[in-house]
Amino acid sequence: MPLAARQFIDRTLENPFPGIPALERKLGRAIISRLSGNEALPIYPGQWLRTYREEFLDRCREYPDPAAYSLRVALGRHRGIGIDEVLVDAGVDSLIHLALRTFTQAGDPVLCSTGTYPTFEHFARAQGLQVRQLPYAGNGMRLRTDLPGLLAAAWDIRPKVLYLANPDNPTGHYYNEQTIQAFAQALPEETLLLLDEAYVEFAIGDPHPVCLWPNTLRLRSFSKAYGLAGLRIGYAMAPVTLLDYLVQARIHYSVCGISQWLAEQALEDTAYSLQLRAETLQLRVRFQQLADEAGLICLPCATNFVTLCMHSPEAANQLQWALLELGVSVSKPNALNGQSLIRITLQADIFVSQIARLIFARPGRSLP
Ligand SMILES: Cc1ncc(COP(=O)(O)O)c(C=O)c1O
Repeated sequence: MPLAARQFIDRTLENPFPGIPALERKLGRAIISRLSGNEALPIYPGQWLRTYREEFLDRCREYPDPAAYSLRVALGRHRGIGIDEVLVDAGVDSLIHLALRTFTQAGDPVLCSTGTYPTFEHFARAQGLQVRQLPYAGNGMRLRTDLPGLLAAAWDIRPKVLYLANPDNPTGHYYNEQTIQAFAQALPEETLLLLDEAYVEFAIGDPHPVCLWPNTLRLRSFSKAYGLAGLRIGYAMAPVTLLDYLVQARIHYSVCGISQWLAEQALEDTAYSLQLRAETLQLRVRFQQLADEAGLICLPCATNFVTLCMHSPEAANQLQWALLELGVSVSKPNALNGQSLIRITLQADIFVSQIARLIFARPGRSLP
């Protein structure tokens, strides 16, 4: 099993802020008057009183539950795992940071693919880690994370943490569960697999129960399939022995009460997320059809974005700038295996005629 950094190994660091809900559970009764946390009087800007309900305003004024207990109970039930196998934090980005802080010390080697979602590399460098990277495999429609290559590199480098986004960003490529499980099982014993599944619901829905492996942190987000990017909330799933380490290092109030409350409502309203995914899928199918008709290479993305392989760096620049002139932002990731990419989030705006005309222009044809 991967070991945490020295200061967490004996599991004795206890966070000094357990929060009011933990006190209520311990006492077996409700706290009806909160006089311990130095929270403010319930006085709010007048406009807010006209706009928001009291239960919303109270959640703004009060410190949140550091343990996100209620949301974790709901997540445990929905994902078929124990409450202690779920940890809530401020989005997958924040969980990546937390995992690096927990499992590494300056100078340790970590591993990821060159050009994958950049948060991991950024935080790893900020922490003084040695970032080792491996190019993607394949080209065009077969551009994908090089799993056998990563495995070989892991045995060579012995990284403390290996980061893998599945589905990947920017390729949108998805490896199935059996493949990822075999990959996880084949890693060196000391390597933590940081499996970023921010988009996984678009690929496979909500399998129940989620499988947990002794060396893997599965990171999930409320930003994509639950539409709550602005609330900054996500969760990690792993066996208790791994999550316990993270609990010692996390920032206790990193997820506000509003976010916990709304995320739980979004999770319980399963029809809402299913509709969001179904409509996203319709946009993806429509995009892929138009891209095919225009002779564009659209990668088989299992995500809420699509990625075009442009025929040259100039074509990628030209499209990005033409769209910017219309006030439309798309992403131009770094070239992968020499291929210039344009990544486009699936929104109905894509099919507005002015925008569609630019995106679905035939390669080589000058833009109108
Ligand atoms: C692969 C991947 N992981 C994580 C994130 C960020 O997730 P969150 O909003 O939960 O921090 C993104 C956002 O684009 C992403 O593409």
